[in-house]
Amino acid sequence: MARTALVTGGSRGIGAAISKALKAAGHNVAATYAGNDEAAAKFTEETGIKTYKWNVADYDESKAGIAQVEADLGPIDIVVANAGITRDAPFHKMSPQQWKDVIDTNLTGVFNTVHPAWPGMRERGFGRIVVISSVNGQKGQFGQVNYAATKAGDLGIVRSLAQEGAAKGITANAVCPGYIATEMVMAVPEAVREKIISMIPAGRLGEPEEIARCVAFLVSDDASFINGSTISANGAQFFS
Ligand code: CAA
Repeated sequence: MARTALVTGGSRGIGAAISKALKAAGHNVAATYAGNDEAAAKFTEETGIKTYKWNVADYDESKAGIAQVEADLGPIDIVVANAGITRDAPFHKMSPQQWKDVIDTNLTGVFNTVHPAWPGMRERGFGRIVVISSVNGQKGQFGQVNYAATKAGDLGIVRSLAQEGAAKGITANAVCPGYIATEMVMAVPEAVREKIISMIPAGRLGEPEEIARCVAFLVSDDASFINGSTISANGAQFFS
């Protein structure tokens, strides 16, 4: 069944692959982005997927943006909270600003994205929430106290939302990607990245489409009894 889907950070990286997979599954997709107008315009031109610009760290912007998407495409039944940033530094060098930026975008951004769409899902008796967490939320990572805290927090969010939404036909699940070939991972210093890849039993980075396929399944009607779960897609790097 065709539904309206919102993918935050949906014009680049893993988010772009998710937007395309949901479109291919027949859904009407709205992809948000924070600042890169050029990449968003190119993405819309190539895919036909409409993009919207707002800062997920800002509640009022998110609420207004979601109202606009619903006015354009109809009630949002599927929310994929994917937008995220890194500000990596060893803890002794991490500034309060680096901590705050990551918490505001990655964690508060999930609240800001799901909260405005939630009442409509409850009223209609259907909803699909997928939060993109990370292997580093499961195992921690040197240099990512801030990021790992948000990604571990995502798991608490979906496990709680699952319990609140289950009786209303809403599911909330997390996907924990491992290291995926995106700009975010390519920004890790090459020597560090090579060391990380050597510790992945698959011997390679994942592809964004390998994450997108997990999301497409979780938002489908077929996944109706999967609620509060975590799918790990990390090439056997870590088991939880
Ligand atoms: N384990 C143990 N020690 C480590 C280490 C590790 N993983 N990484 C670095 N160190 C050590 C260094 O060897 C160095 O030791 P010495 O002082 O004895 O030489 C010390 O830590 C400090 O290193 P630097 O001075 O080089 O520290 P830095 O200020 O340059 O910062 C860093 C280093 C930013 C943490 C860098 O190592 C880094 O970027 N690491 C990668 C972090 C990472 O994996 N990020 C994931 C990004 S992708 C993503 O987040 C997507 C996802 O979901 C998977």
